[in-house]
Amino acid sequence: MPEELQLKPHKLKVRKERIGKCITKYGFLPKSLWKIGSKPAALTGYVSDKIGKGSYAGGAWRGDRLSQFHPEVSRRCIVYWSDRGDWLLDPFSARLPRLLVARAHGRNSIGQDISREFFEHGYKKLLERKTLDQTKVLIKEKDRLRIQDENGTITETRYGDSRNLSFVPSNFIDLVFASPPYYNLEYYGPEPQQLGHGSDVGEGDKPTYQEFLNGIKEVITECRRTLKSDGYCVWNVQDFRKDGVYYDYHGDTIQLFKEVGYVHHDTVIFNLFSLSQMNFTRCDINKYTAKIHEYILIFKNRGMRAGASTISHSKSSSRSFVMSPSR
Ligand SMILES: C[S@@+](CC[C@H](N)C(=O)[O-])C[C@H]1O[C@@H](n2cnc3c(N)ncnc32)[C@H](O)[C@@H]1O
Repeated sequence: MPEELQLKPHKLKVRKERIGKCITKYGFLPKSLWKIGSKPAALTGYVSDKIGKGSYAGGAWRGDRLSQFHPEVSRRCIVYWSDRGDWLLDPFSARLPRLLVARAHGRNSIGQDISREFFEHGYKKLLERKTLDQTKVLIKEKDRLRIQDENGTITETRYGDSRNLSFVPSNFIDLVFASPPYYNLEYYGPEPQQLGHGSDVGEGDKPTYQEFLNGIKEVITECRRTLKSDGYCVWNVQDFRKDGVYYDYHGDTIQLFKEVGYVHHDTVIFNLFSLSQMNFTRCDINKYTAKIHEYILIFKNRGMRAGASTISHSKSSSRSFVMSPSR
């Protein structure tokens, strides 16, 4: 290599120090390809609950552990794209896998889901942590629970349709983080407001893919209203096949976000599944490849027009959201 292209020893040292600082700060290097190994022991209890009907997703049989969200993926996204004391919003919060990791890392969080079964499961789980985390219950209603741990971190779960997030002030959230529904692939519950439907309704009553995407678009439009102008939106998706048709779900999602006005900031690909879970026979017969990667799509809310919010933001409205027990 020509001498002028070689890194000088002192530059190498600076670079190594910077890499070292990154690892110390985040626990991983901020690269675009993540190999996700086993679950960190401290976080395993947050996701290993069995719930839901068995289903295939992404070509893998998920048994009774429907759509588990890997806590290490949550951890990386949360520590990299938010800071302690920030507010996180999850519009498809299900069994609260992202909220619980946010809480463990000192982020306030609010989640909403339309599955009654998942909501009640998460509700119970938050109450169970009461003694363990010295938690105070601030609000306890049928469709809403807000708790606060000894460090002052607030966690709130709500039951409802996230096409309406009017209970969150505009320009208030630092990080939106979600694992959205998968069209008609998975069954989450019988609620008519579910954006997709699995085995619960007949083929004729299921939404078309376009209708499903329209629902997602309504949710991300609401999320954008709640997001601060310098906030991030992190969306974890995987492409999928249904009845022999390949759905470019991540590509369609990027398109939706752009239409709503977000800026596409980054994309991470991660490998989650072990080879033993994949059905290679089906792949070989159809000349498919087995999907062993997922996408983390990161968007920014830059470019929000002044006055575009449907609810005006003021410091006092955010403060009352944080302080008021019955907003
Ligand atoms: C992929 S799942 C999330 C599961 C998550 N990965 C986990 O590990 O628990 C998508 C979630 O979106 C929820 N959902 C679907 N339509 C909704 C809507 N209109 N409003 C709120 N939540 C909705 C479903 O109930 C389901 O819990």
